[in-house]
Amino acid sequence: MAESVLDVRTLPKDAAYKQLNTHIAAVLDGIDDPIAAMATMSCLLYHGFGYLWVGFYRVVESNSLLRVGPYQGSLGCMEIRFGAGVCGIAAAAGRTVIVPDVTTFPGHISCDARSRSEIVVPVFDHERNLLAVLDIDSELPNAFDDVDRRWLEQLVARFGRSHQLERVDAQ
Ligand code: SME
Repeated sequence: MAESVLDVRTLPKDAAYKQLNTHIAAVLDGIDDPIAAMATMSCLLYHGFGYLWVGFYRVVESNSLLRVGPYQGSLGCMEIRFGAGVCGIAAAAGRTVIVPDVTTFPGHISCDARSRSEIVVPVFDHERNLLAVLDIDSELPNAFDDVDRRWLEQLVARFGRSHQLERVDAQ
């Protein structure tokens, strides 16, 4: 198993995600534990791309409330209501939201004033119940596009293949 943290900042996005996703899969091989998976993904995406913040907000009240989970970066907000901020909007809609410029996004919740753009990807279990959202913030404007959406949705599809992941709420 490869143990080191990769830096993929010099690679084209597709190549970067291909390497990172392979690395994440190798590190998590045989591990069916949502917290371990969230922590590992946060770590490797954060260090791999040098983002400002990478982490998960977990659904702790169905269709109502998200609470911060494993993450890397500066202090995250503790809780976000469905429909509030980018995370809450992505959670309520059950779809990926890309914000090219957070300063022009109504309702954006600013946990770190350096944040300029973000992507939030919903995470589903094997029955398509929403477990969490993956939130990535960049200091650069317009950092995320459809390439990120596609690779990140593929990455979090892991949670839909795991049966232990239903227990994320109860932990
Ligand atoms: N930007 C998020 C809030 C969470 S922090 O950035 C970590 C939002 O508006 O949903």
